[in-house]
Amino acid sequence: MSQLLIEGGYPLCGVIDVQGAKNSVLPILSAALMSDGECSVLNFPEITDTYVAIDILRALGAKVVKQQDCITINAKNADGYEIPYGLMRKMRSSIMFLGSILAKNKKAVISLPGGCELGQRPIDIHLAALRKMGVNIEENHGFLECSHSGLKGCEISLSFPSVGATENIMLAAVKADGVTDIYNAAREPEIEDLARFLVKMGARIKGAGTDHISIEGVPSLSGCTHRVIPDRIVAGTYLCAVAATRGNALLKNICPLHIYAVTSLLKEAGCDIKIYDDAVSIECDKLKSVPLVRTMPYPGFPTDEQAPFMALMSIASGNTLFIETIFENRFKHVGELLRMGAKITTEGRVSLVEGVKKLHSATVQATDLRGGAGLAVAALAAEGSTVISSVEHIYRGYENFEYNISELGGKIKKI
Ligand code: UD1
Repeated sequence: MSQLLIEGGYPLCGVIDVQGAKNSVLPILSAALMSDGECSVLNFPEITDTYVAIDILRALGAKVVKQQDCITINAKNADGYEIPYGLMRKMRSSIMFLGSILAKNKKAVISLPGGCELGQRPIDIHLAALRKMGVNIEENHGFLECSHSGLKGCEISLSFPSVGATENIMLAAVKADGVTDIYNAAREPEIEDLARFLVKMGARIKGAGTDHISIEGVPSLSGCTHRVIPDRIVAGTYLCAVAATRGNALLKNICPLHIYAVTSLLKEAGCDIKIYDDAVSIECDKLKSVPLVRTMPYPGFPTDEQAPFMALMSIASGNTLFIETIFENRFKHVGELLRMGAKITTEGRVSLVEGVKKLHSATVQATDLRGGAGLAVAALAAEGSTVISSVEHIYRGYENFEYNISELGGKIKKI
């Protein structure tokens, strides 16, 4: 396991280009499996999760070629229907391939994704929807064996606007017989991006980005070229890092609307934020706490930004109450922030952060992807040199992390 050594206290200043969105690329790679032609995906982020997705495509029989930031997938002869256990364990989002495998084949076999560092993370909403579409699903010794004799369009009302379930249903529905209506659908920008990609392939989809998505099945899907949207979570993390170090930076290649929930709280915290067409600048001299951060489905404050923002609020003047409404166990970074001198008390899904003047260095461990990014934000602002272990978590979602931080003047190296 690698470690990062971060010497804190250097303001992050300069310009940074934000990578393509992990949470867009993953379902889009899954969608490419259904194409009868060749799909090219631009703005592909080089992170470990997207390489796991490529391994899954190859395991299913697709040809995948990467040239710079473009991935080309030819899945015409990809008739595999089983995701190897090892790949499923490496990345929970592999569940995203279930809908497209079932749209292409009469059966699919995957291992149950199991719980993860954020909590139990059941997939009951995915499975109930697929069953309604005519899929027979049996659970056998930790594996899901799925089969059907033709997917049928239907009305599906989600008990929670699950991002993954909405995407899996969209994938299963694009070639199903008839119309599928998803009510209480997730509205995340990544859902709209997946819909844009599918429509370029010839799918008929209305309402993506709203809570009612309607999909009319088509017999076949062609190839297409698509540029994925910028990663709003990565953008938000860098904004928190710049603010925490009292820096001054311009983030390019982003969609400001997608990070509005974060930039509006950063403004409330005293940062000077300027919004451009596809860029945001931030300058921070003084930082004050915001009273409440409540994670919510989009367009609310993203759960994925909770840890980086908590690291920031731990050195702001005043108190902040964090309420985590999406995942039941997403405060694992709190214990590590305490080691750095933060003052935080947690009970269940609520954490109270009392801002301190300075954090100090410590040896800490990244417990999950965004929690690890939060620790990096804290370490960049802290006094002294912090060692973060298990940084593989960070590499799951952040492309060229050390390079980007170094370019902005941060002192960071892999050890
Ligand atoms: C996606 C994102 C992740 C983000 C999350 C919430 C990807 C690859 N990942 O994850 O970064 O943190 O959205 O914005 O896009 N749930 C159920 N049953 C289900 C499905 C979900 O109870 O069948 C629960 C989950 O346990 C969780 C909540 O619903 O508590 C949200 O999950 P969901 O929106 O499905 O998140 P993911 O798609 O897994």
